[in-house]
Amino acid sequence: MEEVWIPVCASSALQEGGKGVRFAVTVGRYDTTGFVVRYDGVAYGYLNRCAHVPIELDWAEGEFFESSGLYLMCSTHGAIYSPKSGYCVGGPCRGGSLRPIAVREQDEQIFWRPDDYVSAPSVKDAAPDTSTACTTGETGKPHE
Ligand code: FES
Repeated sequence: MEEVWIPVCASSALQEGGKGVRFAVTVGRYDTTGFVVRYDGVAYGYLNRCAHVPIELDWAEGEFFESSGLYLMCSTHGAIYSPKSGYCVGGPCRGGSLRPIAVREQDEQIFWRPDDYVSAPSVKDAAPDTSTACTTGETGKPHE
């Protein structure tokens, strides 16, 4: 099966420890979101679903980091997660983890890759959010 990488946004949209970018995904029959953030210079992707209660983490769209910029934080009950591993390091999610999504940064773009659990949404929902400096809604494979 061919590997498909889907564009999320421009690399410049992700600032270190700053605002992340959400993107549409499908899990089972349900449309939901994933997100990417930058930490230690690397882009990390996760399903936007807390390990405590399965709801979205961000307290305002794209706001995933707590004030220090060191941890991802759930807005509902304050669970905190390592941005590198997604592992819960405090709060009611203890012992749980965020579900990772493979991301890749290439040619100044961020891409994500669907897998057995997290799939691409239907075409009508696949367009990225242009308000976060995404540059294309095309689905494809980045250049090698
Ligand atoms: S729903 Fe995330 S900490 Fe409770």
